[in-house]
Amino acid sequence: MNPALEELSNQYPSALREYCNGGGEAALLRAYQLGRGAVAAGVSALEVGTVHQEALVSALVETLALAESAPIARRATEFFAECLAPFELTRRGFQEAHAALRDLNQGLERRLSAALQDFESAQDELLEQKRMETLKNDFISVISHEVRTPLTSIHGALNLLKSGLGGELNPQGQRLLDAAYRNSQRLVRLVNDLLDLQRIESGTMTFNLRPVDLRSLLEQAIEASQAHAGPLGIKLVLQGAPTGARVRVDSDRMMQVMTNLLSNAAKFSPRGETVVVEASRHNSGLRVGVTDRGPGVPEEFHERIFQKFAQAASSDRGGSGLGLSITKAIVEHMSGRVGFQSEPGRTTFYFDLPEWRRTVSRGKASENTWPAGR
Ligand SMILES: Nc1ncnc2c1ncn2[C@@H]1O[C@H](COP(=O)(O)OP(=O)(O)OP(=O)(O)O)[C@@H](O)[C@H]1O
Ligand SMILES: [Mg+2]
Repeated sequence: MNPALEELSNQYPSALREYCNGGGEAALLRAYQLGRGAVAAGVSALEVGTVHQEALVSALVETLALAESAPIARRATEFFAECLAPFELTRRGFQEAHAALRDLNQGLERRLSAALQDFESAQDELLEQKRMETLKNDFISVISHEVRTPLTSIHGALNLLKSGLGGELNPQGQRLLDAAYRNSQRLVRLVNDLLDLQRIESGTMTFNLRPVDLRSLLEQAIEASQAHAGPLGIKLVLQGAPTGARVRVDSDRMMQVMTNLLSNAAKFSPRGETVVVEASRHNSGLRVGVTDRGPGVPEEFHERIFQKFAQAASSDRGGSGLGLSITKAIVEHMSGRVGFQSEPGRTTFYFDLPEWRRTVSRGKASENTWPAGR
């Protein structure tokens, strides 16, 4: 016999008898404790019922007086009921917990299947977007390649005509030629930008990385952009750069980055203003900022500013909206990052690059890049 059942069989009859013989709350509490012990030991309600039945029969047999057997039986029922209370409690508790768990599970299942559906449709959308992106890129790449050669030749021919090779033109002809030349120049730039982007994205653009002195690189960039900023009445100045600071970059690509930032700053500056270039040490790297005093980038455009072809609705100043996406792609390719801060009257576009330091460790040259944890 199960030892717990055996113990119950031993204790139950005397406790029952005590209650039947006029025991009060304490005897009833004993019944409850016996029941709880039975539940805990895994004794079933049916087994307790059998023990009760036997105990009751023996109690009645002992009494033998028929008149007394009715109240004894009634009290015995009370005792038995108290003993079964813990079974009742656990059953109800179990039922409630079961119901709560079932509701919870159903809710979870519903949410899970909804999330699964969302995920699947998002995945489909993503795949479709990727497909469209590849198609678009292929299309742009083919068009750009096809268009570039004839366009360059048209542009060259117009340039020769402008320089007077084809003879003198009347003023109207000259105006038409100027417009044609300007537009062909824009198209050449656009095609070149598109090809650059496509090469960066496909990983086919070569980056000739070498350590260069940051200050002289910035001076060269300013020098090169002066011709463009001058006619707009904008002065470009280098305000500060840490002496001897070097970065490991492709100089031509860096010039492209600076030309993009300087041309934007000049384009959006009011005439007569100064655009300031500044370099400083920042978070153990180097930060180069280009600050203008223009109207700033509209708040609602901030999120899209580095996307391809993105131009703020208010900024109708030419260009195709590719400059900043190329800038970002180039800087990131050289382990850097770009950012900007803008408010009316003061806008700074900046990029951070790791500082190049040559340290000698165990006879071998090694480079210092970003600090650990970046
Ligand atoms: N310094 C700035 N001040 C205010 N807005 C700017 C500035 N620089 C860029 N922007 C905003 O970001 C847009 C995107 O600049 P981005 O250089 O990519 O293209 P773009 O200058 O319009 O054309 P592109 O550079 O291809 O000739 C600009 O059209 C303008 O709306
Ligand atoms: Mg630009």
